[in-house]
Amino acid sequence: MRINENTLLEGKNVVLVPYNAEHVPRYHVWMGSEELQKLTASEPLSLEQEYEMQSSWREDDDKCTFIVLDKQKWAEPSVPEEQCMLGDVNVFLTDPDDRSLAEVEVMIAEPSYRGRGLGKEVVQMMMTYAITRLDIKKFEVKIGLDNGVSIALFKKLGFAELSLSEVFGEVTLGMDVDEAVRSLLLGNTGFMKEHEYGKSRDNRH
Ligand SMILES: CC(C)(COP(=O)(O)OP(=O)(O)OC[C@H]1O[C@@H](n2cnc3c(N)ncnc32)[C@H](O)[C@@H]1OP(=O)(O)O)[C@@H](O)C(=O)NCCC(=O)NCCS
Repeated sequence: MRINENTLLEGKNVVLVPYNAEHVPRYHVWMGSEELQKLTASEPLSLEQEYEMQSSWREDDDKCTFIVLDKQKWAEPSVPEEQCMLGDVNVFLTDPDDRSLAEVEVMIAEPSYRGRGLGKEVVQMMMTYAITRLDIKKFEVKIGLDNGVSIALFKKLGFAELSLSEVFGEVTLGMDVDEAVRSLLLGNTGFMKEHEYGKSRDNRH
């Protein structure tokens, strides 16, 4: 999506930035991991395919992607942005007839960053952005049945089970954004600030 191509979302511990070509090499290394392929139900891609994917995600108007950076590292101008990367978060508009429905995906790719509350922070920031900027009213997430951590994360955020496929080994959780959910989420992400990405990045140097 082009809507976030110059958007930076500042959180408490993370900074979300649009997925650019300069992020692709590190992303490609992450997705070479069999563990992450399994947890995110992804197929391995060549580096060239990964560049094509990055560019199509930027152009397609049904997918909004942010790369997650370590805020503390990124604040240090001498550290290249690629070295601050720790994961990604997306929303897909899966139903062309209902652009208020979004599927969420999150990945804290660097194991040393897991279990520190970042997944929760990142998902809540993405959901707030999706509600306020993309007018999303319903979220869904598909999770492998053996991914207990991710299931626990989304249930904690108020998602409930919609369906379970033993065949695909996958559960679908969902959440409608009513007024109560909206105000809780916006309250929980009151710390979030939106900046211009290009300007903020130039100011690092
Ligand atoms: C799943 C994932 C996004 C969770 O992010 P995280 O930063 O590790 O999780 P958080 O520290 O924010 O924890 C959020 C909640 O998840 C649950 N959780 C986290 N670590 C857990 C663990 N080791 N065991 C059980 N539950 C756990 C808890 O409910 C936790 O809430 P709490 O701390 O308030 O109790 C992350 O581990 C990840 O990206 N893993 C690999 C890729 C993946 O599985 N992506 C999801 C595909 S659907």
